[in-house]
Amino acid sequence: MNINFTYIPGDGIGPEVGDAAMTVLEAMTAKFGHSLEAEFHLVGGAAIDAKGEPLPAETFDSCKRTGAILLGAVGGPKWDHLKGADRPELGSLLPLRKNLNLYANIRPCKPFPALIDKAPLKRERLEGTDFVVMRELTGGIYFGDKGRDESGAFDVCRYSESEVRRIAVKAFDLAMTRKKKVTSVDKSNVLETSRLWREVVIEVAKDYPEVEVEHLLVDAMTMHMLTYAQDYDVILTENMFGDILTDEASVLCGSMGVIPSASVSDGKTGMYEPIHGSAPDIAGQGKANPLAMILSAAWMLRLSFGLDKEAAAIECAVEAALEARQTTGDLGGKLNTSDVGDWIARNV
Ligand code: NAD
Ligand code: IPM
Ligand code: MN
Repeated sequence: MNINFTYIPGDGIGPEVGDAAMTVLEAMTAKFGHSLEAEFHLVGGAAIDAKGEPLPAETFDSCKRTGAILLGAVGGPKWDHLKGADRPELGSLLPLRKNLNLYANIRPCKPFPALIDKAPLKRERLEGTDFVVMRELTGGIYFGDKGRDESGAFDVCRYSESEVRRIAVKAFDLAMTRKKKVTSVDKSNVLETSRLWREVVIEVAKDYPEVEVEHLLVDAMTMHMLTYAQDYDVILTENMFGDILTDEASVLCGSMGVIPSASVSDGKTGMYEPIHGSAPDIAGQGKANPLAMILSAAWMLRLSFGLDKEAAAIECAVEAALEARQTTGDLGGKLNTSDVGDWIARNV
């Protein structure tokens, strides 16, 4: 198969982890007899520097055309003085998600056995943990009116019933293929959008009588996630809560650098990216853990190209690298970013 996708490494550690993922993809194509047609494009700060805008038309056109996007990360201190849509985050990542209608962002939390002791929690709190966060990605406070007036600043949070319904359906459908439990997280004791969220989730749940449903307030969820991680299956939540809860979930897995994500829609388009950012504190030093990016590439193979065996081969090689302690410093290893990529490429 010709694997044609858009490769946008972005800023900071994005290109470093991206190179490692590309090495692994090349090894996979050689082994399985596919060909790789990566369309390289700029996004975020890198695009601002080279083209004067965070999301050049040619980048967006390629994303739309290929419908399969592998993205590193955007943003960094160099562009932090910029405002509003001139920023890498608001000017590239959010419009990509919105304009491709990628409203469902799936972020897994299943600690690798080899990493259980890397997390700050006790082993018995972690063993058997296997949940995914279904994060709404194109609505809520990220996309409402924002601005300043004489009295201060504002960010409006809005959700329509249909926006809540479609992400809830995705969560219940996914739960039906897993442990059949949905935990919906909101702040319905205070927020009107959360009251609507909860009403709609209760409605949608009626179509899935086999699925156990619970509702938790987000503040309590932050605590429950650390205390009862094993109890969860699909955690369904809105955009900003999902952002925050998934960084917290990464702690259960031993590092920010091991969690991939998929952003999908009703059609075929998918964008795959690590949940971490551009990590300016370690950028350019070869310290970044490439596993989240490599696993994101594996998800792209599975979800956008139907290449299950190929995705599994990469995931097995990642697991082997962890077992063999061929890791970067965040996991206690001594390898640099490209060494880890090379090791996994050799073992695909
Ligand atoms: P971050 O995720 O970049 O880093 C948080 C911490 O985790 C840092 O200490 C970093 O060194 C570490 N870390 C992250 N990824 C790692 C990896 N692969 N290996 C080892 N350690 C890793 O979050 P931040 O520092 O809050 O944000 C930095 C910039 O990234 C900001 O401009 C932010 O807007 C942007 N950001 C972008 C995305 C994205 O593009 N999807 C996601 C999050 C943050
Ligand atoms: C993420 C990031 C982004 C988000 C930022 C960079 C806009 O933190 O993908 O988790 O909040 O969605
Ligand atoms: Mn985030």
